Amino acid sequence: MDSPSPVRIAVVLGSTRDARFGDTPARWLVDLAAARDDLDVELVDLRDFDLPFFNEAASNLWVPSEDPHAVRWQQTVAEFDGYVFVTAEYNRSVPGALKNALDQAYNEWNRKPAAVFGYGSVGAARAVEHLRTIAVELQMAPTRTGVHLQGADFMAVHQGQKALGDLDYLATNAQQMLDELVWWASALRAARRSTAETTA
Ligand SMILES: Cc1cc2nc3c(=O)[nH]c(=O)nc-3n(C[C@H](O)[C@H](O)[C@H](O)COP(=O)(O)O)c2cc1C
Repeated sequence: MDSPSPVRIAVVLGSTRDARFGDTPARWLVDLAAARDDLDVELVDLRDFDLPFFNEAASNLWVPSEDPHAVRWQQTVAEFDGYVFVTAEYNRSVPGALKNALDQAYNEWNRKPAAVFGYGSVGAARAVEHLRTIAVELQMAPTRTGVHLQGADFMAVHQGQKALGDLDYLATNAQQMLDELVWWASALRAARRSTAETTA
């Protein structure tokens, strides 16, 4: 039997502020993922979408969105089979820009897996758990394994005293997370296709 085609994975950079640290983990993760042959990875930077605060009549589950930025965002989300959200922790949750981006699509997230790389004093553990709950409402499948850059290591990388590549456990965790993500992305892609065929 032919091996399945690589799944398409977006690394979503969830912080948009000018002085953000988020580029460092997002680019490291994209490089790590790009070396695998079971997925195609792309960096999706929220800065490139200029999303307004949600101002639609309803979620696009119920009413098609009108704002062209929101529509373009939904079209981009739709291109992928799974996602890794790279998230900071802002006041114990995800950055507002990321929550807004999650809210600005619905159907496009459905029946796809969500993994998370969190960074912060406690590895963004609270934001990551919050994001997993949000993902459930969006009908996504959150992976068990996440990547957490925390405490002294977070500070050391933030201040340029260490690189992410110095931290062996991070790559181990990231590969485990990507293994889970690819499994779910492949399984759910097949299931979505099968459903589309039977309802066509
Ligand atoms: C508004 C705000 C709230 C924050 N709240 C938390 C927090 O709850 N927990 C935490 O570990 N770090 C918190 N921090 C510190 C962030 O972890 C740190 O600034 C990080 O670099 C933010 O990610 P970014 O640079 O990619 O935006 C907060 C930072 C900001 C700007």
